Amino acid sequence: MTSVSGSTVPMILDVDTGIDDSFALLLACATPEIELLAVTTIGGNVPVRQVEANTRAVLELAGYGRVPVALGATKPIRKRLQTAEDTHGPKGVGYAELPPPTQPLDERGAVDVIVEEARARPGAVTLVTLGPLTNLALALEREPALPRLLRGWTLMGGAYGVPGNTTPTAEWNVFVDPDAAQRAFAAWASAREKDETVPLPLAMGLDVTEQARLLGEHLRQLALRGGARPYDAEMLAREPVVANGSVADDPLLHFVVEALRFYFEFHATWDGFYGAVVHDPYAVAATLDRSLVQTQAVFVDVETGSGPAHGMTVADWRGLTKRPPNLDVAVGGDAPAFLRLLVDRVGGLAADRSGVAR
Ligand code: RIB
Ligand code: CA
Repeated sequence: MTSVSGSTVPMILDVDTGIDDSFALLLACATPEIELLAVTTIGGNVPVRQVEANTRAVLELAGYGRVPVALGATKPIRKRLQTAEDTHGPKGVGYAELPPPTQPLDERGAVDVIVEEARARPGAVTLVTLGPLTNLALALEREPALPRLLRGWTLMGGAYGVPGNTTPTAEWNVFVDPDAAQRAFAAWASAREKDETVPLPLAMGLDVTEQARLLGEHLRQLALRGGARPYDAEMLAREPVVANGSVADDPLLHFVVEALRFYFEFHATWDGFYGAVVHDPYAVAATLDRSLVQTQAVFVDVETGSGPAHGMTVADWRGLTKRPPNLDVAVGGDAPAFLRLLVDRVGGLAADRSGVAR
């Protein structure tokens, strides 16, 4: 995966670690083109205290324990916090058991980190949000010039031409804090109306991310890439996935399998296939390699009212509002190419961590 410019990309990930957030963290650690400046945390899949502990532990598992992790908002701007332990497991990482993190939390808060890093390196930092947008909305209050100060913003969130995954019209990240999403989208709309050179955010919604279905066969390939014995890797292509032998002995492979085993069961129950939609790492990959997706610029607002469309991302595909575009929405993508990249990079990280020749 080569970044758009071929050089490294200074990046902040904002996460609600969660199973697919964990994969996004591992992918970022496995991608030399990414300079991971910091990770900010937000309550979403699980409460923020669990999110930050998961995040620090996953970074340490990947050998990146020194990346600053900052505590973010405990609840949405207006709504009460709703969480998704049914989807991501009681602690947010499926059946996996993570060792307690050893590195401390950064003393700065999430909003401090986002604003200070953007001000310190104008036009250089890319923010990738993988959970509810509360931290970004609060950062915009602190620094309204963020759309101009950031090199770019990618969000995993929204459903722009497909049904929601939380209600018939709403995707989870936007549903948890629709007020934050509305404020963020309005901020970019205003910035773009003043200055057309402000980069359009990349919106990775369900339209594209739901095509990224990771299956047992991908896990088999990832384990092989990570140095597992072929027989043990073969077990992962069967149902149910089981971490055996060399897979169970490798801390990173074991974590991946145990986290995904829960996610596979969730998708088998609710989506009719034994596998996992891995939304968040797709957003990271597309940020670095825009050739993975096809996009269309469009004006998007958010329904914050209490009706059946609550939390809906309302895309003005026909330009009826006469508002200039404020998002570059992914409308197509090469999910197989993304999954090959994910398998290769995370498998390669496991090999590196266990000292297996690459
Ligand atoms: O709707 C998918 C999003 O909600 C992903 O970010 C997943 O981690 C959950 O937070
Ligand atoms: Ca997430």
